[in-house]
Amino acid sequence: MNILFAASEAFPYIKTGGLGDVVHALPAALQKLGDDARIVLPAYRSILEQGVNVVELGTLDVQGANTRHKMRILQVDDKKQDVVVYLIDIPSLYDRAGNPYVDANGIVWPDNAERYVVFSRAVALLTKFLPGLKGGKAWVPEVVHSNDWQTGLVPAFLSKMGNAPATVFTIHNLAYDGHFSYDEFTRLSLPAEWWSPDYIEFYDGFSMLKAGLVFSDAVTTVSPNYAKEICTEKYGNRFEGVLSSLGDKFSGILNGIDLEIWNPETDPYIKQNYTYENNLMAAKRANKMDLLERTGLSKKQVPVLGFVGRLVEQKGIDLIISILPELFEKTDVSIVILGAGQEHYEAQLIQLMDEWPDRLHIHIGYSEELAHQIEAGCDLFLMPSMFEPCGLNQMYSLRYGALPIVTNTGGLTDTVVNVTFASLQDQTATGFVMEADDAGSLLVSISHALELYKQSALWEQVIISAMMQDLGWDSSAQAYRKLYKSSRSGTRKTA
Ligand code: ADP
Ligand code: GLC
Repeated sequence: MNILFAASEAFPYIKTGGLGDVVHALPAALQKLGDDARIVLPAYRSILEQGVNVVELGTLDVQGANTRHKMRILQVDDKKQDVVVYLIDIPSLYDRAGNPYVDANGIVWPDNAERYVVFSRAVALLTKFLPGLKGGKAWVPEVVHSNDWQTGLVPAFLSKMGNAPATVFTIHNLAYDGHFSYDEFTRLSLPAEWWSPDYIEFYDGFSMLKAGLVFSDAVTTVSPNYAKEICTEKYGNRFEGVLSSLGDKFSGILNGIDLEIWNPETDPYIKQNYTYENNLMAAKRANKMDLLERTGLSKKQVPVLGFVGRLVEQKGIDLIISILPELFEKTDVSIVILGAGQEHYEAQLIQLMDEWPDRLHIHIGYSEELAHQIEAGCDLFLMPSMFEPCGLNQMYSLRYGALPIVTNTGGLTDTVVNVTFASLQDQTATGFVMEADDAGSLLVSISHALELYKQSALWEQVIISAMMQDLGWDSSAQAYRKLYKSSRSGTRKTA
């Protein structure tokens, strides 16, 4: 099958979070199953500046906000990657410093509505353009798989075209819904009939994520548990009604992880490679010492806790910040935190690091390398998210034997088995699931973990069970294939 992935990020070209990982790993997994999966991204400055070779396939005009843009369609020429990547190059929209969504000062780009409406239009046009290419380059997408609000309008624009590919839309995070005003709606020349609660109108504006839900042949989210949760008011972010009305069209398919990039046996970033069968505890110790040395923490044989992620409310940073002083006073742990995000969290963490310089290291910023070293060098990984559609970091932690401490929500529930008397007995335990999503429960789970840490045989057993989990993409890629096949014969909403 020919599948075109439309997204605002894809590793290794551009990544701010798990979306980038998935848009790299799922097409690669489909490719291995014999499909031809390709990716289309905006041609951000940071991609073009990486020095990737590109070839121009052609140019087209696309409607923007009260203007028309000329776009160049580029193809990345990268022999290292199996998957073909197309770039939509419109310099006035994507050639900027900063990340895809915010400028270098963390301020949301004011023209994000236009940037992603135009990108979605461009992707729809691309599905007509690619089949016409000459010289053996013609390619006919049978399914377009769009991801998150930035590409929510792709199926909507495709619904206006004859003989369009089938459409699948995946929600990676319902908290970001691409909500914009009526003014933007008209400036962007969106079809007047879409301004209706049956289509994309949503609470005094319009939602690009809602377009993905309403217009696609099938809708998925990234774990079965989150699929259930977001049909309720607590987690639905006002979409619970729309989502519930989708019936069988909506399902949860658990993300996998890239087992080659996240592989302790071959990881080039870590001091000592290991498997659960070979060199396990000695390598974990060596990697811990290496991490402590790199981060300037005191090099003692103490339990080390890690965190990697966006510093935003979703990730439960408040809980971590609030327990740190008590944790340092009452236990001997050290902690390494890697992340970037909201300024007030960054400032609070830096202040705590000043107070506990030997025990707490904060790296503000983005570092692929340190992320791997934290997974390899930590004993425990903190992920007390308030909600978590799937979560990849807890899976990286399982694979690296850094036992995750998680809240009982979303994909965390689907991937971590709590240590209990029974789960230790039957050797299914893989981590620690908190009783509730509050600071007290986080402290309780950490102290359970530290108790188990003292019992080295049991501790090693849980690490081995964690590392033995099947976390790859194989079965989920199969589930997506099944869905693509059935969507090709699906019935689509048109307006
Ligand atoms: P989310 O997509 O909500 O941010 P996930 O757990 O699904 O959460 O994925 C986060 C991904 O981003 C992981 O690959 C993680 O290692 C990476 N990541 C997040 N912040 C950083 C950072 N500061 N440095 C390096 N990698 C990071
Ligand atoms: C989102 C979610 C995260 C998920 C990732 C990839 O950013 O917050 O839970 O793992 O997308 O699907």
